[in-house]
Amino acid sequence: MNDWKLCYDGFDPAQEGLREALCTLGNGYFATRGAAEEAEAGEFHYPGTYLAGGYNRLTTDLAGRSIENEDLVNLPNWLPLTFRPEGGDWLNLLATEILSYRQELDMQHGLLRRMMRVKDREGRITAISATRLVHMQEHHLAAIEWEIRPENWSGKATIRSALDGRVVNSGVERYRQLASRHFAVLTAEQVGEESIALLAETSQSHLRIAQVARTRAFAGHQPVRLERQLVEEQDFIAQDLVVASSADQPLRVEKVVAMYSSRDRAISDPLGAACICIAGAGDFAELLDSHKRAWSQLWWHGDLVLEARHRTQMILRLHIFHLLQTVSPHTGDLDVGVPARGLHGEAYRGHIFWDELFIFPFLNLRLPQITRALLLYRYRRLPEARRLAREAGFRGAMYPWQSGSTGREETQVVHLNPKSGRWLPDNSQLQRHVSAAIAYNVWRYYDATRDEEFLNFHGAEMLCEIARFWASIARWNPKRERYDICGVMGPDEFHDSYPDAEQAGLDNNAYTNVMASWVLQRALTALDRIEPVRRGQLCETLSLDDAELEAWDEISRKLFVPFHDGIPSQFEGYEHLEEFDWEGYRGKYGDIHRLDRILEAEGDSVNRYKASKQADVLMLFYLFSIEELQEQLERLGYSIDDDTVSRTIDYYRQRTSDGSTLSRVVHSWVLAHSDRSRSWTLLREALESDVADTQGGTTAEGIHLGAMAGTVDLVQRGQTGLEIREAFFRLDPHLPEDMRGLSLRLRYRGHWLELEFGCDTLTVTAPNGWSGPESIMIGSDTFPFGAGAKLDLQCRGGSWSSVA
Ligand code: BGC
Repeated sequence: MNDWKLCYDGFDPAQEGLREALCTLGNGYFATRGAAEEAEAGEFHYPGTYLAGGYNRLTTDLAGRSIENEDLVNLPNWLPLTFRPEGGDWLNLLATEILSYRQELDMQHGLLRRMMRVKDREGRITAISATRLVHMQEHHLAAIEWEIRPENWSGKATIRSALDGRVVNSGVERYRQLASRHFAVLTAEQVGEESIALLAETSQSHLRIAQVARTRAFAGHQPVRLERQLVEEQDFIAQDLVVASSADQPLRVEKVVAMYSSRDRAISDPLGAACICIAGAGDFAELLDSHKRAWSQLWWHGDLVLEARHRTQMILRLHIFHLLQTVSPHTGDLDVGVPARGLHGEAYRGHIFWDELFIFPFLNLRLPQITRALLLYRYRRLPEARRLAREAGFRGAMYPWQSGSTGREETQVVHLNPKSGRWLPDNSQLQRHVSAAIAYNVWRYYDATRDEEFLNFHGAEMLCEIARFWASIARWNPKRERYDICGVMGPDEFHDSYPDAEQAGLDNNAYTNVMASWVLQRALTALDRIEPVRRGQLCETLSLDDAELEAWDEISRKLFVPFHDGIPSQFEGYEHLEEFDWEGYRGKYGDIHRLDRILEAEGDSVNRYKASKQADVLMLFYLFSIEELQEQLERLGYSIDDDTVSRTIDYYRQRTSDGSTLSRVVHSWVLAHSDRSRSWTLLREALESDVADTQGGTTAEGIHLGAMAGTVDLVQRGQTGLEIREAFFRLDPHLPEDMRGLSLRLRYRGHWLELEFGCDTLTVTAPNGWSGPESIMIGSDTFPFGAGAKLDLQCRGGSWSSVA
């Protein structure tokens, strides 16, 4: 098995949606699903092209109200390329006889290949080999090469190359009652002899998208004689290339496409820019060459090499691959966030949630400039977050649960339960913890990079404004002499209110309150850390005075954290909920990961039960080391010992359905040291989430980027026990039994560190110029470290020593 390739043998219409999502190609600027070039959207195929940040809003009248949604727009389809022998039908895999079919996603080189042999009604056999790329360096370009080899026939063939603007957003079945036509085609025309162009504009955001496609045909490297015919239909333009083909002379067709938008930098006229770009674009071989080089450089930064099962290695690469296609070095030039479902489909409408919490740790230690760009997306939306806070009666910055173009709250107001067919209120915007995640991300980025400029001019302001929000939402409770945070939701989306309560929201979610305390404290640290002049300026700009800073300190020590049976409660009153009949429901329904939908369809509510969709309290053990968490709780006047930690993990693990793909990542992480084999089982399940579509159909609607990046980080930091905090750098490797080795390089505060882990060996090499800590901890042993140092270590009886 090649661990750089995801391969499929045979054509299976029912699998197309999944394959399309998993074989998406992109470059951070735009991405296109791995739909067949000759396929149209229908029951099985769903071509989709999405531009990073390419949103539009539409209004639908539904369930008696007018609902506005912002969507990542499915853009005109640039893929169409097909052929037919004279007198025959256009290639259609659903209707023709398929003699062989293979599809390969080559992650090393960023290519999608399909090889097939088909036989038409007349018995004509044709072998077709298709290769596609979305250029990783020239991010406005994409290209397709088809080789068409007639095996037993000769004669005229027609090749059709099109740009299709008859596209709507219909990739997610449960959104199909919503308005879906986001753009109008303004022009569709021929440009010069070899190219066609299409210009579209979205209806509300007035985003202009231009595509220009150049199509050429060759026999070997020689252009073939051909006749071109223009095909114009409503919102659709194509060129038919009529050529003579014969059994001994395969035909090579190259389609090169340029895409520009009015959102680009340095742009005036997207269509003009696309025309200029296509005129200067190289041929397929040249583009392939430069594309491969760009990927090779990216892999240098991003790869991790395992000595383990090939499948584990392959899936980890698949996850890194999709992450780097969604956000890439091009992200730095864009003003975009990282959508939870990638640029791979329409689930969650391309919105941005808290999932970057699971994504940034990988980027921080590989390509931190991408994290910086993505944090700036949040920084630019501070005014909107301030407005949201103000409107809700708070101060500071309250980030939205779902964010899109402007950073306003994009969470839908109603959602459809496909099991009951009912539209229900969606209260998930009460997940105020998203703001804490953003603050956490700012700080962890700073810790990994020591990017002082960022902290001084962006990060500290975000931290202060988020801290101010937490201070204003916290209410003093004189009875218990503590601060409460009420009316919120934790990460577990199964609980949005108390059973039978009229109003949505829960009180004192343990995760939220501990995070709020941490943010308040970090904002104070950040103010101490930045330059005094900058601190003065920031305090002046934000009208921050000593009294307010003292209040932050006080609140950070006195927030309430509920406990029951000696363990932290998910929220206040959690202990009064009923136990859920896990066995009974598993027996009845099999798959119960979305038991919120099952129970609602039964007329019941998951709010009544001790049943979580995903990790909530346990998020604390994921985001902080035990020592850090203990310090944080001590600051709040609570204490947890090791026994409480393991009881807490067991308690919530047993009561979680893993209805979110993020859940297994967290659970695997928290068990990494105490129960290696369970942790490994969970990691393997998390690895399979998308590639095997274990949630039964959700991957076709878009990959789960948080879980993908989270699994990579689980190996990168979880299995290696990597902890970076202030001047503290520690590795505490616990490789799972079937992982015999792991090599990776990490970027730490401006330098690359090389790490090689064996079963009980470890080599750490610092580059010349290393300016990180002068000692590092491995397990509980400390070793001197410095520029050019190489530590060759062996573990015996739990303690590490140098190999002489
Ligand atoms: C999860 C959220 C997540 C969202 C987007 C939901 O199913 O519960 O935690 O942010 O998906 O991935």
